[in-house]
Amino acid sequence: MKDFREMKRRGEKITALTAYDYPTARLLDESGIDIILVGDSVGMVVLGYQDTTGVTLDEMLHHTRAAARGVKQALLVGDMPIHSYDTQEQAVETARKFVDAGAQAVKLEGGWSECGKIESIVASGIPVMAHIGMLPQHVREEGGYKLKGKTPRETEQLLDDARCVEHAGAFSVVLEIVVAEVAKQITDSIGAPTIGIGSGEHCDGQILVTHDLIGLFPWFTPKFVSPEARVAEEIRRAARAFIERTRGTADEVRDVSTSLDMTSE
Ligand code: KIV
Repeated sequence: MKDFREMKRRGEKITALTAYDYPTARLLDESGIDIILVGDSVGMVVLGYQDTTGVTLDEMLHHTRAAARGVKQALLVGDMPIHSYDTQEQAVETARKFVDAGAQAVKLEGGWSECGKIESIVASGIPVMAHIGMLPQHVREEGGYKLKGKTPRETEQLLDDARCVEHAGAFSVVLEIVVAEVAKQITDSIGAPTIGIGSGEHCDGQILVTHDLIGLFPWFTPKFVSPEARVAEEIRRAARAFIERTRGTADEVRDVSTSLDMTSE
């Protein structure tokens, strides 16, 4: 495992992307990414769920095994799904299952309320990536993906969460959709690296859902993402070319892509 704290001290940015299958994990690994997360975002961008609250442990382990076969140099982190870490004992048991599936570390969502679990998992020898700010596993109670750190109270809570997860032994902390200035404050106040998503440029590293980065989930792209590719369009183009070639009648191929497109605001 790379020394991520040392990278933070040196001001070297940490890069992280998601992968849920062998080819993607292998391509990211070969590209030199530092961390590959088998995120529970798989539920939305691969399995077609509305959010991550329906993702099961079996699904996560299945995707972790696939991704693990493609990874040689990056740190592979398995995302513990909702209700797979309701108690300290269950948290350790689940973390071990991820390691058996090929992960070298696990991630879980939550701040001070999860610190006992983080401590127990770390004590069992498994590195933990914490995740604070917007918590997608709580999106239904929250009523949406809302920016965090907008009030002094929320800012204090986030700072407490960050200090607590660091104290519990987390080797890094994901900050999801946190006000950029607050993310900077958190980054400056802890030794563990912060990995931001939609939280501005001052974090020690950045993570994105790969499908968003490469434009493979065109029906919704978060506002903070600037896609680097348009893979969905390439798939449609290739499929249309194949249909045309096979039928031998270009006129019969109907372009349905425009009616399927739903772009985010
Ligand atoms: O599930 C996921 O992909 C994540 C990242 C976006 C941080 O939690």
